[in-house]
Amino acid sequence: MDLNKKILAIYGSPRQNGNTSTLMDKFLEGIENSSFNNYTVNKVFASKVNVSPCRECRVCSKTGECVVKDEMQDIFKLFIEADFIAIASPIFFTTVSGYLKAIIDRCQRFWSLKYEHRKNIFTKEKNGIFISCAGSGAKDIFECSKKVIRSLFDVVYANYYLDFLYNNIDFKGDILKNKNAMNEIYNFGKSKKFENLLKGVSMNKKLSFIFFVALIIISIIFIGCSNAKAENPDNDLTYKNNFTLENIDDEEISLSDFKGKLIVLNFWATWCPPCKAEIPDFVETYNEYKEKGVEFVGVSMDSKSDLRQFIQAYDINYTLLIDGGQVSKQWGIRAVPATFILGRNGEVLFKNIGLMEKSKLVSEIEKRL
Ligand SMILES: Cc1cc2nc3c(=O)[nH]c(=O)nc-3n(C[C@H](O)[C@H](O)[C@H](O)COP(=O)(O)O)c2cc1C
Repeated sequence: MDLNKKILAIYGSPRQNGNTSTLMDKFLEGIENSSFNNYTVNKVFASKVNVSPCRECRVCSKTGECVVKDEMQDIFKLFIEADFIAIASPIFFTTVSGYLKAIIDRCQRFWSLKYEHRKNIFTKEKNGIFISCAGSGAKDIFECSKKVIRSLFDVVYANYYLDFLYNNIDFKGDILKNKNAMNEIYNFGKSKKFENLLKGVSMNKKLSFIFFVALIIISIIFIGCSNAKAENPDNDLTYKNNFTLENIDDEEISLSDFKGKLIVLNFWATWCPPCKAEIPDFVETYNEYKEKGVEFVGVSMDSKSDLRQFIQAYDINYTLLIDGGQVSKQWGIRAVPATFILGRNGEVLFKNIGLMEKSKLVSEIEKRL
């Protein structure tokens, strides 16, 4: 196993020592000043590399390779080898810079491998962060670029772990005046949490498989030896469709924690307008039915920082969990919102794709009380 962790840092701004590059440097400085030193940083300055935009020749659909022989060939390798990806970009016309977009579009080769060839050439699963600054103060100014970065992370098998987004930052050096921003990103780089992220998710598939098999064997031995009923709800094998995810406070919560209750399970995202539209109805319905043994659990595709603001703005009063993609994949979620009603033992009783009208939700709950 390669113990030297590789961090891929992509600077998307053409402005030297601009706001987003300053943030990226601060993040790397945090790592440098941490106790962890077994890592290499590969920096890519998008405006300085020779990468032409995608020509849409579609050869990658057939071969999985990109025919354009420029510096992107080296960047492909960096994506494949990376244990962590940090991408910084200013907002240009509501999205990422053109230089960065050229790199992203060339990752069509990875899209093709994943979705057309169904082939995974990435031996490492990894986490990624997105760093951005925008001149405007508009609340939704980062939404478009977040989607762009999310779809890039998807094809390079990276989990969109966190973002650092700052608006009202326009002129060169503006970000230096925002001490909170500088401290926040520095502290993240220096943190044990980041070190663990870097170390923890880079097991290659073979090793993960060995761990998985070992876990199964240990579980079988444990179940075989024990007559006692498991106390931990995760071990409750009678509960169907169970999963465990973290909430914004890093607490792990399992569906089976609500065993015995009817669960309204909603897959959603803050960037999805119909998902947002149904939240006030969920808040109301939860208030009306929580005393009657009904629990609401939202599974969000967002980062913790996005969610924190959203929970306050919408006064969300029920459990919200964050999914890096694994759980929604297991549940076959291709579009959000998707809402399920689960019985008292986790069994699926009802499914609705798309916006859920309050009257429909209430009548489906009533039928099952
Ligand atoms: C070509 C261009 C387009 C821009 N478009 C937007 C925009 O759509 N929305 C916005 O809020 N800021 C916009 N800005 C402002 C930048 O996002 C802002 O100045 C940012 O801090 C630059 O970061 P940097 O120093 O890392 O390049 C634009 C700036 C330029 C040069």
